Amino acid sequence: MHKICVLPGDGVGPEVTRETLKVFQALSETTGWQVQFDTGYIGGDAIDHCDDALPEDTLAKISECDAVLLGAVGGPKWDDQPPEKRPETGLLRLRKNMKLNINLRPMKIFPALKSMSPLAKIASGEMIPDIMIVRELSSGIYFGKPRYRKEGDDGLYAVDSMTYTQSEIQRVADVAFRIAANRNRELMSVDKANVLETSRLWRETVQQLASEYPTVEVKHMFVDNCAMQIVSNPEQFDVLVTSNMFGDILSDLASVLPGSIGLMPSASLGDEAIGMFEPVHGSAPDIAGKGIVNPIATILSGAMLLRDGLGMDTEASMVEKAVDQALEEGYRTKDIGSHEDRLISTGEMGDLIADHIKQGN
Ligand code: IPM
Ligand code: MN
Repeated sequence: MHKICVLPGDGVGPEVTRETLKVFQALSETTGWQVQFDTGYIGGDAIDHCDDALPEDTLAKISECDAVLLGAVGGPKWDDQPPEKRPETGLLRLRKNMKLNINLRPMKIFPALKSMSPLAKIASGEMIPDIMIVRELSSGIYFGKPRYRKEGDDGLYAVDSMTYTQSEIQRVADVAFRIAANRNRELMSVDKANVLETSRLWRETVQQLASEYPTVEVKHMFVDNCAMQIVSNPEQFDVLVTSNMFGDILSDLASVLPGSIGLMPSASLGDEAIGMFEPVHGSAPDIAGKGIVNPIATILSGAMLLRDGLGMDTEASMVEKAVDQALEEGYRTKDIGSHEDRLISTGEMGDLIADHIKQGN
């Protein structure tokens, strides 16, 4: 029996997690998978209900569960709040609290959607990039101290600190080397070592670790160049490993390749902790509540939950196949569709994918 804690959060979060639960339910009916769900508050939703972006009650629920599925946090309603009253702080505290040091963000091209790619070579089928971004998730500039805002001689000023210990770098690099060893054995470490001290330590540390993984070829690239290469020649990349903020930015950039960020899942993992699974996209307040958001990124995060969180490979593949099938049949949500397609709502996409699972794909 597995227990999954669902944190819908804000904006489109409740819609996309609802559809993923439909898919899990279908899987349970089809395979006999024993699963229970619990729901908790996070982000703005939690601020509104409990005056805390990460209530104790949510942490207590998570401690009873085997995996966490998260929708998204944030929205204009809370944008003017001080840091401790912002939805994003809840998510960052949760990642820290659950010791989720590693964030996996795979970028794949969907054959049925390749024409949506802005890159002509992908759209024509000439190039099929497949990249795994390994993002450090619990340190770097997101968490470094000191961090404050103060009145100075020249008016207000603010400070954030980018810090990395060698062991934090080793921890994420280790995972990236292992993933690369099981893929095409090419690891690209991305930094800004021409400017930043943290990046120099990053590069040295990754390079030192290379001798432990003789089958993997490791290279280094500056983040600005990497941003350019992701859109000009993405096929050169197999596994990318990078720091927290660079990974945040590069994964949004990479999501342009398949045609929509509404297709990009992610898995956050730690050594001791249970995993958390969430789409790469945010809470998209502009389209929330309209039934038009694409649930596929979250449904595919559900597949990662099954594979990377619970070790259920067969079931994860069933979910991925059901998603492929819905797309092959021409069904599209608005973000990935045009009038020639079978345009359907968020709920219909969830139903369709769930049905494909029930029909044994
Ligand atoms: C992401 C998001 C978060 C991040 C925000 C919501 C704090 O952008 O998961 O990529 O910056 O990590
Ligand atoms: Mn982001």
